Amino acid sequence: MKVLGIETSCDDTAVAIYDNEKGILSNVVSSQVKLHEEWGGVYPDLAAREHTKNIIPVLDKALKDANLSLKDIDIIAFTAAPGLIVSLVIGISAAKSLAWTLNKPLVPVHHIEAHIFAVFLKHEINYPFLALVVSGGHTELYIIKAFEDYQYLGGTLDDAVGEAYDKVARMLNLGYPGGPIIDKLSKSGKPQISFPRPLIKDKDKHKYNFSFSGLKSAVLRETEKNFYKIEDIATSFQEAAVDVLTTKTIKAAIEFNIQNIVVAGGVSANSRLREKLLEEAKKHNLNVYFPPLYLCTDNAAMVAFTGYKRFSEKGTTVGFDFEGKARIRMDKFVEYIKEYYNSKKSIANCL
Ligand code: KG4
Ligand code: ZN
Repeated sequence: MKVLGIETSCDDTAVAIYDNEKGILSNVVSSQVKLHEEWGGVYPDLAAREHTKNIIPVLDKALKDANLSLKDIDIIAFTAAPGLIVSLVIGISAAKSLAWTLNKPLVPVHHIEAHIFAVFLKHEINYPFLALVVSGGHTELYIIKAFEDYQYLGGTLDDAVGEAYDKVARMLNLGYPGGPIIDKLSKSGKPQISFPRPLIKDKDKHKYNFSFSGLKSAVLRETEKNFYKIEDIATSFQEAAVDVLTTKTIKAAIEFNIQNIVVAGGVSANSRLREKLLEEAKKHNLNVYFPPLYLCTDNAAMVAFTGYKRFSEKGTTVGFDFEGKARIRMDKFVEYIKEYYNSKKSIANCL
């Protein structure tokens, strides 16, 4: 079975083809990083315009790379939520047009779910596992009991950790996206400054919640003093952020007695987060899994694969009136698509 995946939730236009027997056949990502650099973040209108320009050429390249034509595709999977709505609708419309023209099933995927299940393209992991999701828009902890059985433990109350990386990089005039730049620069700095670790010791309702805006403000105050070297500020910021992520993840694994931890989303590429989580997990006899580096940041292979899982394990498809959502948690998304599916049952009812 060949699944075409489409991902346009933020600033990357991506199309990939996954074959359940052969694996990833193609994985094309058209990045807009250079265009958004001058804004120091993603500028939604520009992202949407770029998606309209890129989506067909990216689709064409994905087919050519896989040496296939559209008639070889069995299922169309697409990111339906969450993201910038002006960006999402381009991918959703492309997916619907293809499904309609080719008369093939249309399978919706949640972007964060796709980041998490991307790990299965490399590792077989037993359920339940703990998922730490760290990206430009999300910082969340879930218990994944099975595919589509997700328990939300907590998330950020303000900035996502990737967003904090990007904002700190902007303060330090380092460029965009900030995560990889700070990651690299931190290797030459020293963790001299003891930045706050927000909510790290919270035992009550914020035990598994995060907050990064106070840390970001503390970095700004320190930067304005012009005392420490930029690389020391970067290293100290990274140490604080990674410390909070690691401490809460290990605490949750121990409290819920979960052996396996999956880290997903763009920030899972971070070298210090990988190192520290592996180190701490080893002390407690836990296993940590990361997606391969090329699948950490946004891509459509993760969408095609998750779409395949949804179709083959649950049989869920949607019709042409299915709406995307800018903001919806992964566990709520599962309820949303189930309700939709049960109310329609057949694609013919949606035309
Ligand atoms: O998952 P992703 O590609 O897009 C979203 O869904 O948000 O994540 C992008 C985020 C950006 O904030 C970027 O700075 C961060 O991931 N990032 C990193 C690293 N590589 C990407 N953060 C820290 N260290 C990295 N090596
Ligand atoms: Zn992402």
